[in-house]
Amino acid sequence: MNSIMKFYCRAFQFCFKMAIPILPYRNPRVLHSVSGVGKALKKKGYDNVLIVTDKVIRDIEFFKKLEEGLKEHDIIYTVFDKTVPNPTIENVEEAKGIYMEKGCQALVAIGGGSSIDCAKAVGARLVKKNQRVQKMAGILKIHKKIPFLVAIPTTAGTGSEVTVTTVITDEVTKHKSPISDFCLIPCLAVLDSDATKTLPEAIVATTGMDALTHAVEAYIGNSTTKSTRADAIEALNLIFENLYKAYTDKSDEEARGRMLKASFLAGRAFSKSYVGYCHAVAHSLGGEYNIPHGLANAVLLPYTLEEYGESAHKKLCSLAKATGLCNDDAIDSEGAEAFIEKLKEMNKSMGIPDKLKGIKTEDIPRLAAYAAKEANPLYPVPRLMDAKELEKLYHKVMED
Ligand SMILES: [Fe+2]
Repeated sequence: MNSIMKFYCRAFQFCFKMAIPILPYRNPRVLHSVSGVGKALKKKGYDNVLIVTDKVIRDIEFFKKLEEGLKEHDIIYTVFDKTVPNPTIENVEEAKGIYMEKGCQALVAIGGGSSIDCAKAVGARLVKKNQRVQKMAGILKIHKKIPFLVAIPTTAGTGSEVTVTTVITDEVTKHKSPISDFCLIPCLAVLDSDATKTLPEAIVATTGMDALTHAVEAYIGNSTTKSTRADAIEALNLIFENLYKAYTDKSDEEARGRMLKASFLAGRAFSKSYVGYCHAVAHSLGGEYNIPHGLANAVLLPYTLEEYGESAHKKLCSLAKATGLCNDDAIDSEGAEAFIEKLKEMNKSMGIPDKLKGIKTEDIPRLAAYAAKEANPLYPVPRLMDAKELEKLYHKVMED
């Protein structure tokens, strides 16, 4: 990246960092049982809601618990269950239409990050009827209070229940657009360990690595605060201690509950301190090839950290020390190496590959341009890279 662009990016990031204390971040209220959602909605005066979900979640026992809680409090609900992985503009528009047609007053998102992201964008479209989703991409383009939103994650990874962000895919261009605004932070987050009981183990693994990526990218960036560093470290310790347990033993309720907490904390950390190039590249791959977000991040993260080189060593070493991966007297490069090695071991132990299938060489310049556009100047990464430099990451991660 040329020096003028570098100066512009760093100046932009500095301004955002200075603004953190005055920006209107808020924490969602947390419930630990899905059965309490009906009561919470009733208390707020809502009796007609739209549930945003997908067909798989609609069939699980946990969904029925939500329905029972709503019925118990005489809350009418309509279900939109067509959310796809990497939710599309079409999903958002259809759900928005149902919400209006049924006269709903609040949104309840239950599912992985896709359903929660879809519901956030539905909320945004409901209050910005003349602004298409494509025009919301970027930061602070909504400005208006969206309807009351309950987020019930059924994976422990995206942290969407606490973040300012939603990512929507344009089904025509296949481009994924992150949309960030404070009004998108859900009002109520339900962290119920029963939610992840029936998750396939591969999803437990990759979504858990997504949460890990949030914590790491938030921590190593230049816009951290004392509280985001603390959240990131607590999330990482919880993930190191519980992800493999949750992956191998479905009956380990404690591990599942702790992974939900880790995901929430990592989400809170990156909401204020941002992610980095790993996410920008993962979004471009998800949009183009539908590669699941958690898988893309899990595979990309070690390569991305290696690509940052020395610029990330100090912070990776402090993460290694804070999580007991190296001794307190380890030098920065040793700590960083121990940390990256741990990520590779985790991937391997959970059957996550070290390369991604399906990336086409001829697509790489375009995808790298998307990633650069998403990340620069917003993401306060340890080392700035332009599209040309980011291309290296795609070549490293693609299967031969
Ligand atoms: Fe993510």
